[in-house]
Amino acid sequence: MKASIKVCVFASGTGSNFQAIMETESLACEIVLLVCDRPGALVIDKAKQKQIPVHVFDPTSYPSKQAYEEELITVLREREVTWIFLAGYMRIIGAHLLQAYHGRIVNIHPSLLPKFPGKDAIEKAYRAKVNKTGVTVHYIDEGIDTGPIIAQQEVKIYPTDSLKTLTNRIQKVEHQLYPKVINQLIQNEG
Ligand code: GAR
Repeated sequence: MKASIKVCVFASGTGSNFQAIMETESLACEIVLLVCDRPGALVIDKAKQKQIPVHVFDPTSYPSKQAYEEELITVLREREVTWIFLAGYMRIIGAHLLQAYHGRIVNIHPSLLPKFPGKDAIEKAYRAKVNKTGVTVHYIDEGIDTGPIIAQQEVKIYPTDSLKTLTNRIQKVEHQLYPKVINQLIQNEG
């Protein structure tokens, strides 16, 4: 592990992607912080079990997005974070944070973008009766799931699939693809 590269994961929910990244033995960076916008989310316990510091905030208790993002930037800088990886973080990143971490915020999304952006992407693909969907890792920009694509992996949808079997298969791909892409990004930096 290259302890000199410090990264932060942002997550809002279960945290299976966070767990997959955290448990990657060959991870080329150190997760120094989990940021979570939902007090009570399961991902918080996952971080605590591995002694990863957690910054939990409730966006509704701030006057604006700018206010909580300014606080986030301070916390991230204190911990010398150079990359932010969104893993099921269900909140749009605002102009402040985007500017502070320009080109250094990456997201994973469960579809072949630009198809099925936004929430419930797996279900949208399933209901659309398409025969393939997938996983995309991309840089964050001002839009919703619109930033430049870094990597994609296709997942077939079979006629016998239920939403659950498809979801399981997509998550399995996510858990392998995201740590791999994170390592590539960090190693490409030298
Ligand atoms: C993942 O499938 C991730 O791709 C998706 O949320 C899930 C979080 O699961 N993200 C988005 O839909 C972003 N638009 P997890 O909490 O178990 O990692």
